[in-house]
Amino acid sequence: MQTYLVGGAVRDELLGLGVKDRDWVVVGATPEHMLAQGFTQVGSDFPVFLHPKTHEEYALARTERKQGHGYHGFSVYSAPDVTLEEDLLRRDLTINAMARSEQGELTDPFNGSKDLDARQLRHVSEAFKEDPLRILRTARFAARFQPLGFSVCQETMDLMRTMVAEGEVEHLVPERVWQEIQRAIHELSPCTFFQVLRDCGALAVLIPELTPDAIFSVAMDALQRVHAREDSTAERFSALLSPLDESTCAERAKALKAPNDCQQLARLAAASIPIIKQLDPIQPSASTLLELLEKADVSRRPERFSQLINVLECTLESGDQAQLEPLKKAADAASGVNPQALIKQGFAGKELGRAIRAERLERIAQAVCR
Ligand code: CTP
Repeated sequence: MQTYLVGGAVRDELLGLGVKDRDWVVVGATPEHMLAQGFTQVGSDFPVFLHPKTHEEYALARTERKQGHGYHGFSVYSAPDVTLEEDLLRRDLTINAMARSEQGELTDPFNGSKDLDARQLRHVSEAFKEDPLRILRTARFAARFQPLGFSVCQETMDLMRTMVAEGEVEHLVPERVWQEIQRAIHELSPCTFFQVLRDCGALAVLIPELTPDAIFSVAMDALQRVHAREDSTAERFSALLSPLDESTCAERAKALKAPNDCQQLARLAAASIPIIKQLDPIQPSASTLLELLEKADVSRRPERFSQLINVLECTLESGDQAQLEPLKKAADAASGVNPQALIKQGFAGKELGRAIRAERLERIAQAVCR
């Protein structure tokens, strides 16, 4: 039995980056052998085990063959006679298909280290086509390593275009797509992810509304700005969808199965932008401002409101930025209304709701309309 470090750990070590997760491949062993040594088996599809002490993943060398469309339908063959090279051959990119033995020797049958030097993301073999998720993974690695000078090589881009044209991307389940988007918007160059997807045609399948030039460039500008400032997935995702109108944005966020906080903030931002753009900069309407604050449910969701402001600061053109000042002032003014005081005055039920609204409106008018 021989054990090798594989995948991202070998790649990142050669790039001089810190290694987070270490994955291992075991050649020449059986599941019984692994269990006898104290490993525990995880997952039923693949022969993958956890080390009894380090809890790192050890996978038996395997080959995979696709049987159906999309991510499902792989037939996995794992036996002691599967070689390290055969296991590396089923992997996505050459830079991810290197192994290091316990003695420190590098196995690199597909010239991954050469591609690391040349800053190329290149598929290992035609087997890349068997897993459409690899299109998104490749775009995500492009987003991560673009600052180091990496790009997707021409042959791989051509292969990804063929896969898209053959309808493979349509078979991806939203959960996996979302997982990749979520990770990609936190990479160093998130816009590169969407540029690669657009270039190979996958964006037209996954988020078609973003593909027109004018919309795409607004979305990328917003994403770049929010990425430089804000860390939350919800803010980044909302900036991405900010050029869409409210209902298109809401439908797309739902179809992507984004988490609720992401869906809600994206929708709120998309709904707010046209209203803010129409505000009169000299004499902003107090009722429009209140309407916006009510839409944002600012009294109950102050944190989300500040996320909304962050997104708007990154998405509004400079000419419209000034409109955010009255909105912030209005939020401060409205928060000064004390429902308890109104209850003491005898207001209750619908009357109380009306009284709160009237007082908020008056305070907003005083604060912003001078
Ligand atoms: N892999 C693959 N195709 C996939 C998923 C994974 O070929 N669809 C292979 C690659 O060799 C990859 C390894 O499995 O390097 C481990 O996958 P994963 O942990 O997802 O990626 P890493 O390369 O370790 O990258 P990260 O730094 O994002 O964890």
